[in-house]
Amino acid sequence: MLKVLVIGCGNIAGGFDADIKAGAMPRTHAGAYAAQGQFSIQTCVEPDADKRVVFMARWGIPKGYESVEQLSAATVDAGSSSQFDVISVCSPTQLHYEHVVQALRLSPKLIFCEKPICNDLTRAQDLVQRCNDQGVKLAVNHNRRWDPNVRQLRDQLKTGQWGQIRTVMGQYNKGVLNNGSHMIDLLQDLMGPLAVIDCGEPCFDYSTSDPSVPAVLVNEHGVHITLSCGHAGDYSLFEMQFVTQRGVIAMEDGGLTWRTRLAAPSQQFSGYHELSQSQFTAGSYFQTMANAVENIYRAVTDGDALASDGESALRAQLVCQQMLHQSTQPSAR
Ligand SMILES: NC(=O)c1ccc[n+]([C@@H]2O[C@H](COP(=O)([O-])OP(=O)(O)OC[C@H]3O[C@@H](n4cnc5c(N)ncnc54)[C@H](O)[C@@H]3O)[C@@H](O)[C@H]2O)c1
Repeated sequence: MLKVLVIGCGNIAGGFDADIKAGAMPRTHAGAYAAQGQFSIQTCVEPDADKRVVFMARWGIPKGYESVEQLSAATVDAGSSSQFDVISVCSPTQLHYEHVVQALRLSPKLIFCEKPICNDLTRAQDLVQRCNDQGVKLAVNHNRRWDPNVRQLRDQLKTGQWGQIRTVMGQYNKGVLNNGSHMIDLLQDLMGPLAVIDCGEPCFDYSTSDPSVPAVLVNEHGVHITLSCGHAGDYSLFEMQFVTQRGVIAMEDGGLTWRTRLAAPSQQFSGYHELSQSQFTAGSYFQTMANAVENIYRAVTDGDALASDGESALRAQLVCQQMLHQSTQPSAR
């Protein structure tokens, strides 16, 4: 059994799975640890006493503290040293820096940090360096790297099943760092390193410091990617369309649905090709948390590589930070 500490007991820590139905795929850290079966959440940290009590009862956690300092003091009093194999950092993003630093003092084997690592690139780089220096693995929850549909598309694009990628369009909202980092990470996973060509006006749709930023990017093969932004106040938006030689593949509803159209001879205009009717398939998005936790288990026990780690997260954040800079500093545009 791997012993786990969860820092921050809100939605992604376990709240989204509070009423999970038997047999449903887990959507949270606690839900996925429980479903995997080889993890035991020993302790949680949550300053909100009511939330802490509910979280402990829901996930059967024996110990809870209001802060990591309180946990550390209790640990010193009890004379025990490192007692956690895995530490989940699920607190608000602005607290990730101090919580990862505190987590490192507890000497776990792996830290599973929510995205983005930090809103500040330099601090995120510092955390990745600290984890490397201390030999602690860092998994970052860019969860689509654990989505089988995404892995399949990556393989298909790589082996040329769709022919050339002509162009890519993406739509997102709720912040370039908060949600855009998911999109940039996913695009870099599928298309390799991206460079920013141009950015549009920032849209402050959920935060004054993290606007959504429209942009044009390019990969190393010269394929252009156009990112447009909706407003987070309307609805959640996270979709992508790959226009390829052999058809169009669209990831919709954040990955809950995939839509494909294949190029075929036109029934209406002889000598032309057109796109077929849309084929909709259910996505494997809900497998991502379970797959992440399985990957984490194998990383700790067998030394497996992590599909999403500090380095891949930093590569995404670097692009996001450039987009943020170009968009909010008109002189940089
Ligand atoms: N990977 C994803 O798709 C995904 C989805 C949702 C959220 N997130 C990320 O997860 C993180 C948390 O988001 P959330 O939606 O669960 O937020 P949330 O507000 O539901 O949960 C955060 C919890 O942290 C607690 N907290 C506050 N101060 C704390 C402290 N000093 N020590 C410990 N806990 C503290 C809060 O009381 C709250 O219970 C964010 O970084 C967010 O970007 C990622």
